[in-house]
Amino acid sequence: MNQDIRILPLHFLADGARDQAAALYWQAFQGKLGRLLGRGDRALPVIRAALDPGHALAAVTAGGTLVGVAGFRSAAGSFVSLSPELLRRFYGPAGSSWRLGALRLLGVDTDNERFLIDGLSVSPAFRSQGIGRALLEELASLARAEGYRAMRLDVAESNPRARALYERCGFRVVQKQRMPFAAPVFGVWSCNIMERRLSPSAP
Ligand SMILES: CC(C)(COP(=O)(O)OP(=O)(O)OC[C@H]1O[C@@H](n2cnc3c(N)ncnc32)[C@H](O)[C@@H]1OP(=O)(O)O)[C@@H](O)C(=O)NCCC(=O)NCCS
Repeated sequence: MNQDIRILPLHFLADGARDQAAALYWQAFQGKLGRLLGRGDRALPVIRAALDPGHALAAVTAGGTLVGVAGFRSAAGSFVSLSPELLRRFYGPAGSSWRLGALRLLGVDTDNERFLIDGLSVSPAFRSQGIGRALLEELASLARAEGYRAMRLDVAESNPRARALYERCGFRVVQKQRMPFAAPVFGVWSCNIMERRLSPSAP
């Protein structure tokens, strides 16, 4: 990876990084979340409000531009949390109720035994330089330091590039999940749940 790029906890960065992280997240996931949250100008403030910088790592250039982000979920919260309160605030009572129903169809992985990765995105101009891998390795260090023995994520069947990266980083498919009911809203018909075992960190 380019020596000028550093991986840091997102909450170490200035407040403007939150906007950059929301934009990166939206760039990666608008295909999946566009029907739910609306077009960019409507969705971006929602993502920004839903985003918790304490649950993400960021890849930053020497000039301070955020070029990658990797979120995770823990018992204390998640990188992007579309809570009922938040949806009501942005879409009103009627607009939030069908959205909450749709999110339930998608399901939320509540596994607390494994470190859950939730939202990896690298800016298109900076892809294929090892930033995705570096973010994943830093997440692995964080997970090890917190005592986790495994990491887990899900990747859409239609995203072979991300899956190949995860395989190169030691993840293996442990389950295939079909999502026929969620597909009309999220455009994802099935995904692969992948796991990577972690060796304990040295004392
Ligand atoms: C998936 C994603 C995060 C990968 O990020 P990335 O920074 O490009 O990942 P890496 O560079 O570590 O590895 C990817 C590629 O770079 C190559 N590569 C890695 N290090 C490299 C280096 N130093 N020099 C040149 N190429 C390198 C890898 O061989 C790999 O090859 P590929 O182009 O065939 O995929 C990025 O493509 C992305 O944001 N996609 C959209 C969002 C998304 O799908 N997220 C995952 C949802 S589950």
